[in-house]
Amino acid sequence: MRIAATFIALIVFSATVRAAEVPTFNKHIAPILYQHCAGCHRPGEVAPFSLLTYEDAAKRAKLIAGAAERRFMPPWKPEPGYGKFANERRLTDDQIALIRAWADNGAPEGDPNDKPPMPAFTDGWQAGKPDQILTLPSSFAVTAGGHDQFRCFLLPMNLDHDVYVSGTEFRPGNRRIVHHALVFVDTTGTARRRAGNDGNYSCFGGAGVPGINLIGGWVPGTVAQPPAPDYSRFVPKDSDIVVQIHYHASGKPESDQSSVGLTFSGPPKKGRTGAMVIGGRLDIPPGDPHYIVKGQLVLPRDVELTGISPHAHYLGKEMKVTAYLPDGTTVPLIWIKDWDFNWQGGYQYEKPIALPKDTRIELEYVYDNSENNRRNPSRPPVRVKWGEQSTDEMALAFLVFLLPTPAEAYAFGRQITIQYFEAFLYEGMSIDDLPFEIASPQRERLLQALRFFDRNGNGVLDPDERNALLKLFGGNN
Ligand code: HEC
Repeated sequence: MRIAATFIALIVFSATVRAAEVPTFNKHIAPILYQHCAGCHRPGEVAPFSLLTYEDAAKRAKLIAGAAERRFMPPWKPEPGYGKFANERRLTDDQIALIRAWADNGAPEGDPNDKPPMPAFTDGWQAGKPDQILTLPSSFAVTAGGHDQFRCFLLPMNLDHDVYVSGTEFRPGNRRIVHHALVFVDTTGTARRRAGNDGNYSCFGGAGVPGINLIGGWVPGTVAQPPAPDYSRFVPKDSDIVVQIHYHASGKPESDQSSVGLTFSGPPKKGRTGAMVIGGRLDIPPGDPHYIVKGQLVLPRDVELTGISPHAHYLGKEMKVTAYLPDGTTVPLIWIKDWDFNWQGGYQYEKPIALPKDTRIELEYVYDNSENNRRNPSRPPVRVKWGEQSTDEMALAFLVFLLPTPAEAYAFGRQITIQYFEAFLYEGMSIDDLPFEIASPQRERLLQALRFFDRNGNGVLDPDERNALLKLFGGNN
């Protein structure tokens, strides 16, 4: 009797286990796809197919399982454990195992009653209707095939008064071809000159406009940030918005007319400022598969770090940014093991990270300039230096800091600028050997300043000449 009962219990037990072991689309898989994939895999979006319906997903079950296991999908570059980010787009090991088990068991549909409702998406403004909407003046044509294009569009604000911008939202016109976008504000008229009569120009790494002026960005799947009036940014009248759009061909002739929405508010109550950690003098020999670049920034006061955007071009392979606190603590800020220029993005920390004065933020990037790097734009590989072109390289981490007041943010920004100059204008530097990080037109102006400060005309920046120059920029020495 006892044996029989155990036997029956065992059968029941193994039957439930087996039933639980075969995941179904409706119960197990659809919730994962709707949450983590549908943002891009739905009709009219950037991904090459939709994953909304059972039929769409089932016929690709093996492909989906493979892409999830390789962590190729969903695209999410930062390694877990190196910075805790908001809106993390990463499947858990359990979710990947579920997808694999579903695919290996013939991708069953399951009980219709288990099916979750289709996710709702808005094609309109996600963060509310903006105060000013700037749209590309005409639609931009992208041919069916060929290379990706990086285009900067001039969007004049045409305002007769200064404003404070508290929110920026980019809205792609054609989601099949817009791969990513960066929104800049230009207060210098540089973009106007570059755009000329066409209203746009070719640009790659950024917009080629001086200053730390990135105010927004978009990649597929972006969750629009609500306006933040406490941290609004002063934008003088006559400023222009410049949007850089990365287009990729869809296989059909396409066109795009994207928009940027701006929300205005009163002056800021708190301080927010961007700063960059810049890699050293990179000069990558052809064929070198493992070229290391380092750079650092020392914080002149206590701050909170809220976001990070690492940046390199096609040779970039691995990126690590780490904070070394004065008490000896090490705080990893981000680690990307397999950098892909096509999936660059800005990452927001789940909670702001408090970093005390004298924290040293170090960047260490690795570049692969060999033929084995399938993204290498030069075949055979060539010597690569710093620059804006897709065949040049960069080593940057753009950081966003919060401070108690706008005045403190401004002072912090100036101190950081002086630090850049101290690093750039090294003692004994030859006057014509201007650091490569500085692009024209500032380059021309700085060259003039350097020649002017070379009082003894020996072609070298002597210590007293360097000090005089740094003083001009507000330095202490
Ligand atoms: C941020 C946008 C985005 C998200 C989110 C996303 N995908 Fe993709 N997916 C793409 C794009 C774009 C491609 C085309 C390949 C490329 O351009 O890299 C793609 C390609 C694929 C492919 C084809 C891979 C191959 O080897 O051909 C599969 C399978 C796939 N995605 C599955 C998924 C699954 C499953 C999820 C969710 C767990 C997901 N994707 C989430 C954008 C996305």
